[in-house]
Amino acid sequence: MKKIKISPSILSGDFSQLGSEIQKLEKAGADMIHVDVMDGHFVPNLTIGPPVIKALRKHSKLPFDVHLMISPVHKYIKNFADAGADIITIHPEATENLGDTIKHIKSFNKKVGLSLNPDTQIDVIKDFLNEINLVLIMSVHPGFGGQKFIPDVLKKIKDLDQIKKQKNMNFDIEVDGGINFNNSKLVKEAGANILVSGTTIFKDNEGNIKKNIEILKTN
Ligand code: DX5
Ligand code: ZN
Repeated sequence: MKKIKISPSILSGDFSQLGSEIQKLEKAGADMIHVDVMDGHFVPNLTIGPPVIKALRKHSKLPFDVHLMISPVHKYIKNFADAGADIITIHPEATENLGDTIKHIKSFNKKVGLSLNPDTQIDVIKDFLNEINLVLIMSVHPGFGGQKFIPDVLKKIKDLDQIKKQKNMNFDIEVDGGINFNNSKLVKEAGANILVSGTTIFKDNEGNIKKNIEILKTN
C-alpha cells in the first residue's frame, strides 16, 4: 500500500503568524510544509522569499517543500538552499538549462522537484526523470490558492505513473491545486503519493486542520 504524504500550503495560512501556523501543521500531522514562492513575473502574484523561509526554519523540523514560481530561477537556488529549503521545486520554463539547474540544486544536497503546469506536457521533463526526486503536477494555473481543480490533469498523473512503473523509477508524484475531499481519492488512484492543499486544510471543517489532513490522507 503506497504511503500518502500531505504537504499543506501555507499560502492559505495566516501570513501574520506563519511561525505558529507551521507549528500547528506539524502537530496536526503534516508530513512536510509546502511553501509557495511567487515573484509577480513567472506568476501574477507576489508572496515570500528566502528571508521568510529562514525565519520559519526554526519553527519546524518538517521538510520544507519549496515551490519556486519564479523566473529566472537558477541564480536564486543558493538563497533558498541556504534559507533552509529541503525540496526545491522549479518550473522547467524558468531556466535556460534545466540539466544545469538540477545539478545546481543537488550541489547543495537538496532534493529536486520539477513542476508541470496544466498546459505543460510530460515530454518537457521526460529526459530528467531519473535525475530528480519529485514531479509536482499543477492541477490549477499557478499563482493563487482557492482555485478549482482541473480534472484534465488526472490523465497526466496516470501517464506519469505509467512511465514511473515501466522504467522502475521512484520519484514522488505530488499534485498541487484545488485538492479537496471530492477529488483527493481520484488523484491518489491516478498515482499521486503527495497531496498539496491550502484551502481545504485551512478552511474546511471550521479550520480543523488535524481532521482535514487525516481525511485527505485516508479517504
Ligand atoms: C498555487 C500554489 C498552490 C496553492 C494550493 O500557485 O502552487 O500550492 O497554494 O492552494 P489550494 O489548495 O487552495 O488550491
Ligand atoms: Zn504550490
